[in-house]
Amino acid sequence: MKQLNVDLGDRSYPIFIGSEVMANSDLWRQFIRGKQLCIVSNETVAPLYLPALKAQLDGFDVLEVVLPDGEQHKNLNTLNTIFDALLSRNQNRSTTLIALGGGVVGDMCGFAAACYQRGVNFIQLPTTLLSMVDSSVGGKTGVNHSLGKNMIGAFHQPQCVVADLSVLGSLPDKEFSAGMAEVIKYGLICDVTFFQWLEDNIVGLMARDTALLAEAVYRSCVDKAAVVAEDETEQGRRAILNLGHTFGHAIETAEGYGSWLHGEAVAAGMVLAVTLSEKLGWVSAEVVERSKSLLSKANLPLLPPSSMNLDQFLQLMGRDKKVIDGRLRLVLLKALGDAIVTSDVPVSMVKTVLQEAGVKA
Ligand code: NAD
Ligand code: GLY
Repeated sequence: MKQLNVDLGDRSYPIFIGSEVMANSDLWRQFIRGKQLCIVSNETVAPLYLPALKAQLDGFDVLEVVLPDGEQHKNLNTLNTIFDALLSRNQNRSTTLIALGGGVVGDMCGFAAACYQRGVNFIQLPTTLLSMVDSSVGGKTGVNHSLGKNMIGAFHQPQCVVADLSVLGSLPDKEFSAGMAEVIKYGLICDVTFFQWLEDNIVGLMARDTALLAEAVYRSCVDKAAVVAEDETEQGRRAILNLGHTFGHAIETAEGYGSWLHGEAVAAGMVLAVTLSEKLGWVSAEVVERSKSLLSKANLPLLPPSSMNLDQFLQLMGRDKKVIDGRLRLVLLKALGDAIVTSDVPVSMVKTVLQEAGVKA
């Protein structure tokens, strides 16, 4: 088993990574406060893993909330069903919520924990690759609004994160690839050694070799934890974790939540961001080619959807949370493994890159 810490003063917490680590509940049960628990999962994950989890929790008063599956349900209506269940069962302030699922469940359960009685504890048990390397770490929680993704939320850190690699065995290939997009992101934004390691090991990773996966999840979490420790509430540097996301969120919103997977949209968005970085003369054509090659070996899309036009793209990108005073801010690469946030990119150049990627005027 591998372990690391997210260093945030009195909100610090450990991340446990390994096979069967969920079953080793002595390790993580100590982070439960009180006797009341609420496991939040969804209709796909619950039948697979909730009974085994519950068997670890003898002696607790366990409430189960099983949400419908899908990004399209990541909204205030679904969130309210968690509050209904908590209140109907008189769950008090010392209750602990446990998120058992991917990023959708984790973001909603975390947001419910941030709001319920002005804040209760929660634990992340991520079950997708994406949630292990990204969404379960760093305390961003929230839901979508029909006008924009993740627009309603809060920063609320978990008590611990338990990344049990054995559950990845049941993850569909497409979802696995979507998680690889965020893994590759860390190499691009802040860790050139990891990027090279990914290039060397991509075949084994795609075959889901457990030792390689443990290393990839660990190194992704180390990179994310370092950025979060530096800038917990995204006043500056944390925004680099959003490489490709301004383009990606526009794709997700335009196509309808759940149509393009988050990681797929991020992959196409990262290609646009790296290409833009090349246009600015910051990275070489070789970096663009290496990025595309790695993403394509992870079976990820390299181009945005043909159904989107330029106006739609720019309008949706203008709603990005990084926009300040109407100025678009983008995460771009100064070099491979070195991302920055900039508002100094001419819109005409953004348009050119989108058009060259097949987006119609
Ligand atoms: P997801 O939660 O929708 O899970 C993907 C699919 O896999 C779902 O159908 C789910 O039911 C299923 N699934 C989950 N675990 C499984 C398993 N072990 N076996 C079989 N099926 C399984 O999607 P995701 O990619 O995990 O997360 C995407 C969400 O995360 C988006 O809403 C995105 O905005 C959010 N996100 C948040 C942050 C953050 O910092 N909070 C970061 C990145 C992404
Ligand atoms: N996924 C982006 C962040 O956590 O800041």
